[in-house]
Amino acid sequence: MSTAASPKERKKVTTRTLQLKKSKGEIITMLTAYDYPVAMAVDRAGIDSILVGDSLAMVVLGYENTLPVTMDDMIHHCKAVARGAQYALLIGDMPFMSYQASVEEAVCNAGRFLKVGGMDAVKLEGGRERADAVKAIFEYGIPVQGHLGLTPQSVHQLGYSPQAKMSDAAVRLLEDAQILQEAGCFSIVLESIPARLGRLVSERLEIPTIGIGAGLGCDGQALVTHDLLGFFDRFTPRFVKKYADLHGEMARAISAYKNEVEAGEFPGDEHSVEMPDEDCKRLEQRVNGKGLRTD
Ligand code: KIV
Repeated sequence: MSTAASPKERKKVTTRTLQLKKSKGEIITMLTAYDYPVAMAVDRAGIDSILVGDSLAMVVLGYENTLPVTMDDMIHHCKAVARGAQYALLIGDMPFMSYQASVEEAVCNAGRFLKVGGMDAVKLEGGRERADAVKAIFEYGIPVQGHLGLTPQSVHQLGYSPQAKMSDAAVRLLEDAQILQEAGCFSIVLESIPARLGRLVSERLEIPTIGIGAGLGCDGQALVTHDLLGFFDRFTPRFVKKYADLHGEMARAISAYKNEVEAGEFPGDEHSVEMPDEDCKRLEQRVNGKGLRTD
């Protein structure tokens, strides 16, 4: 059953809306989008927040991991998403090396997401080591979402395996979450961590957590839309549920088109335009040398 609110009752989602949902025990929804049509579909479905994730690097641009994607790439896609979404809270994902080298660079790049990209907020990866950047960005009036657990920009240190499975790492992650909250984050993404830890962190924090592979105890859930739609078939993380097989459907449709074109079945009459019979006759006469200018 669709739970999308009718356009009349819908209001623009803000960070305050997410906070209110947490306080009322209502579950927050977040999905990624990288372009206009998907942003429109996600927004129309009533999803609370759209993340223009740096997963763009892998699922749209075909890179091996998220590291090569640039600020310019991100801004280009953010602008398309902003044109397609009216209601959802729009979050731009800060790409690798756009916030790590200095706090000043972090602030300027975060500002670009709002000023040029049309986003409402930014997200960045990391814990206590990012507290200064989060604080500075927040102090410039830019809402920041944190991201803990499996942080794909650290793939060369952490790989893609689930994080914080042992108690020491779990305690450290909880501390990181508290530090990010104090630094000013309005929400934290928890990726690929044990479900019990996801619940514990969500209970201990005042700000909402958004889980992706972090169990049912989080305040909200996120997925990469290309995974959910079965559009990206290179690999499927355990935490992904495929709600469709768009990759298969796309392959089927493209083959059907090729077969029909090669068989002379497409375009049919219904896909073509015709000229009135009279004009067709006149055209034939002129082409046959009666009045057609050939110079
Ligand atoms: O880039 C992304 O899509 C993300 C999600 C996995 C949360 O960061």
